[in-house]
Amino acid sequence: MMPAVQHTAAHLSDRHFRTIAELIEGQVGIKLPPGKRLMLEGRLHKRVRALNYSDLNEYVDNLFEADHFDTELTHLIDVVTTNKTDFFREPQHFTFIREVAVPALLKLRGRRNANLKIWSSASSTGMEAYTTAMVLDDMARSGSRFQYRILGTDISTAVLRLAKTAIYTRDMVAPVPEQFVRRYFLTSRDKSRGEVRVVPELRRMTHFMRMNLMDASYPVDRDVDIIFCRNVLIYFERETQRTVIEQLCNHLRPGGYLLVGHSESMIHSAVPGLKQVQPTIFQV
Ligand SMILES: C[S@@+](CC[C@H](N)C(=O)[O-])C[C@H]1O[C@@H](n2cnc3c(N)ncnc32)[C@H](O)[C@@H]1O
Repeated sequence: MMPAVQHTAAHLSDRHFRTIAELIEGQVGIKLPPGKRLMLEGRLHKRVRALNYSDLNEYVDNLFEADHFDTELTHLIDVVTTNKTDFFREPQHFTFIREVAVPALLKLRGRRNANLKIWSSASSTGMEAYTTAMVLDDMARSGSRFQYRILGTDISTAVLRLAKTAIYTRDMVAPVPEQFVRRYFLTSRDKSRGEVRVVPELRRMTHFMRMNLMDASYPVDRDVDIIFCRNVLIYFERETQRTVIEQLCNHLRPGGYLLVGHSESMIHSAVPGLKQVQPTIFQV
């Protein structure tokens, strides 16, 4: 049988778990129900060893020390965020952008050569942003006259690092149509690495920065054409969801679109002035 002392060292006490859960919900809006405790403990062990603490509880006891609170909060956020994403995730959104949103937005603008602004507001490793870049670049090649800029923001610094490098494994690009892989990805010279990188032409149009959706205001333009807020609202309380959607809508130009994840389609109901175009697509 395991000695009791080892058992304790490997786990967070109720109090210490509550401390982290309250900190995370207050800072990032993400709820940490008791079911997430094992995951949190598992992911924190490496950090506890790196800082030479004897156990997880000692880590939490020292968390609020002024000299390293910001660093540890950044680590904790990287640890607790779920960053699952994919190229062409929920592909109907990209069909909508191509067939409905961009033609409508260009028509609304009433002139050619418009500059479209797209914002992936919980971008994770950038796949949503680069998928959009591929679709828009392909449209522009096929004769639609417009320029575009894409902004990706996320709270996790770890995923933003990946998004900025734009290097992915071959497996990750499996959902990308083969002709787009050939056109929009460079293969590393060392084939054994199995890595590809988004071409500079698309990288130049796509920028990433850290931003917390919980902040009272967002440092982003207020004439964005399309905002993605997919698969992040589900982690927030209902009131926070409503506030975030309202704030995001303030950054859309009239006629602009908000895209949410398929499990978030009911979230709009409390936000006035938001028209549902499709189950997960809204327009202001
Ligand atoms: C499951 S991923 C979704 C990625 C992408 N939108 C998609 O649907 O494929 C959720 C992302 O939201 C980010 N996130 C969580 N809370 C956030 C917050 N308060 N502000 C900004 N980003 C947040 C996480 O770091 C994570 O990368």
